[in-house]
Amino acid sequence: MTHEITVIPGDGIGREVTPAAIDVLESLEIEFEFVEAEAGDAVKAETGEPLPEETYELAASSDATLFGAVGETAADVILPLREAVDSFVNVRPAKAYPGVEALRPETDLVFLRENTEGVYAGHEDRLTDDVATLTRVVTESASRELAEFACEYVEDNGHDGFTTVHKANVMQETDGLFRDTVAEVADENGVETDEVLMDAFATHVCLDPEQFDVVVCPNLAGDVLSDLAAGLVGGLGLLPSANVGHDRALFEPVHGTAPDIAGEGVANPAATIISAAMLVEYLGYHEEGAAIRKAVEATLEEGPRTPDLGGDASTEDVTEAIVDRL
Ligand code: NAI
Ligand code: MG
Repeated sequence: MTHEITVIPGDGIGREVTPAAIDVLESLEIEFEFVEAEAGDAVKAETGEPLPEETYELAASSDATLFGAVGETAADVILPLREAVDSFVNVRPAKAYPGVEALRPETDLVFLRENTEGVYAGHEDRLTDDVATLTRVVTESASRELAEFACEYVEDNGHDGFTTVHKANVMQETDGLFRDTVAEVADENGVETDEVLMDAFATHVCLDPEQFDVVVCPNLAGDVLSDLAAGLVGGLGLLPSANVGHDRALFEPVHGTAPDIAGEGVANPAATIISAAMLVEYLGYHEEGAAIRKAVEATLEEGPRTPDLGGDASTEDVTEAIVDRL
């Protein structure tokens, strides 16, 4: 069976780390057909359009998409692409690795972030010169879908349960609905949960990240708290993510185009290669995914390393070392 994968390298180091991940995927015994598509600042400069219709259609129809990074056009590209794959959850693991300096080396978390609504639902108004408003949207259906995914996720990945993060003491209607729906679904599925208010979570996760494992949260909280966790594990350069939809998904490193190092061939490919591991796991190849992770972890620990991790190796050197270990 051949899997059609849309590949969107984008701009900056997206064009360096995406080919690295493709090299890794091509070294596996899985049949892929990679279809490259354009998006981002460069294609906008050329055509006026940051996300060509053809790219949207490819992402909306292929089995999975691998995305690098785009520059200033990020919002115009990523939000519609998440919609193209009908993504209702953003999976963001934040894990420290041996050999990589981290504030909290014991951190090993996975954020399951609601990906369609909350304060990012797009209902903002400027009422007068003085007043701007935002409508926060929470639906039972989206909360239920996220919670069902979370229950399956903890079962499939051998976790004991999950923590729900919310602020239902203040946002009683919206986060009240979120919290109650998630708790109900967990109960229906026999999955253990606990809950923490999102502000308290920010403190607790810094002081003692080990008490958390899988964290289920509304859209904005997931965005902010997963970036906070990135700080605990040694920065953005290592964090992968998956935008999972009903029939397809889009995988991307959390980092951007890194204009300060773009073109030098020294970008760390680890985040994108781990995103590629998530992609093959999504397609059902769990052994291959685990093998990629192991090869990345060994390379982070033993080298070679790119300059962001204190080494002097190039993107290609690191990629070659990972492929060799595979
Ligand atoms: P950034 O993630 O591109 O860079 C932040 C810092 O981390 C820089 O010093 C960079 O060199 C370093 N860094 C990031 N990834 C790295 C890697 N793989 N290897 C080594 N070092 C790495 O974030 P920044 O600078 O805030 O944004 C730059 C551009 O990227 C902006 O135009 C922004 O809009 C865009 N962006 C795009 C995203 C996406 O496409 N998903 C996400 C975040 C930002
Ligand atoms: Mg963010």
